Amino acid sequence: MINMVETKIKNIGVFTSGGDSPGMNAAIRAVVRTALYYNIEVTGILRGYDGMISGDFMPMERKSVANIIQRGGTFLKTARSDEFRTKEGRDKAYRQLKSQGIDALVAIGGDGTFTGAKVFYEEYRIPVVGLPGTIDNDLIGTDFTIGYDTAINTVIDAVDKIRDTAESHDRLFIVEVMGRDSGLIALRSGIGSGAEAILVPETKTDMRALLARLEVSRKDKSSKIIIVAEGDDAGGAFEIAKQIKQKFPAIDTRVSVLGHIQRGGPPSCMDRVLASRLGVAAVESLMEGKTSEMIGIVNGEIRFTPFDHAIKHNPEANAEMLKIVEILSL
Ligand code: F6P
Repeated sequence: MINMVETKIKNIGVFTSGGDSPGMNAAIRAVVRTALYYNIEVTGILRGYDGMISGDFMPMERKSVANIIQRGGTFLKTARSDEFRTKEGRDKAYRQLKSQGIDALVAIGGDGTFTGAKVFYEEYRIPVVGLPGTIDNDLIGTDFTIGYDTAINTVIDAVDKIRDTAESHDRLFIVEVMGRDSGLIALRSGIGSGAEAILVPETKTDMRALLARLEVSRKDKSSKIIIVAEGDDAGGAFEIAKQIKQKFPAIDTRVSVLGHIQRGGPPSCMDRVLASRLGVAAVESLMEGKTSEMIGIVNGEIRFTPFDHAIKHNPEANAEMLKIVEILSL
């Protein structure tokens, strides 16, 4: 428990920014209720940095966040702000925060959000901590980001359904999942759905080796699922399907791009609890004087990671997971 007398913070602004992820609402709820618990005012900032610049603020009470823990998306809305990348934009944002009396911030988002938050603190010294909210799970300093668990469960649910029809027709499906720079959605959902191959941006995709493996396995007439991350270097699901069709016209091949369904839906229990723990830690850490750090959970414990380290993508896929793919796939 924090000593309430010690904190100088009077009003915490909370916002979501970048791509939304299931569990963001649960995180906002936890931030709001924790701030109120410690008698700190809390203000919702709409549409991320854009709303900060235009002064789109919403004073929050306990009931402002009632009935949202189970909802996907973010009720504060989100945006990727071009204006905040400019000094003029950040200056406007600072003046808006000052006029509202907001003296600390909780930023919920991914690498772009934290890059902006880091620069903003360096320029204006308003303390800011970050919560990892992205389906990609691509931040350093947390085992899981808010939304990742829900997204991979959405993927396996979709792939299970695709498998039914694939099996009926003896078809090969290339299923493309999100992850511009990261294969973590593909890797985990691919293992979880029993995919025959998983292609991720972290490793060079060897199309010749994939085609050679298909050559061997095509005699067994059953369904096959290849999961490909959208950022994979082989050129995406349609390009892979084209190459497979050229080499094996007899293999009945289809493509399914799952797209934004991966970002929506009610958060899993794991994401709700993760978001709740991180939201409480965000307020308490601001009260303790922390700034410019992302709060994550590593091995079950709260962990603080400076923004400039958290935003570095890990270019290497987990070797153990890759080995599992090799052993269990085609
Ligand atoms: O960062 C989350 C993410 O869903 C990525 O996996 C994906 O590449 C990107 O956002 C899509 O962004 P947009 O919402 O702009 O289509």
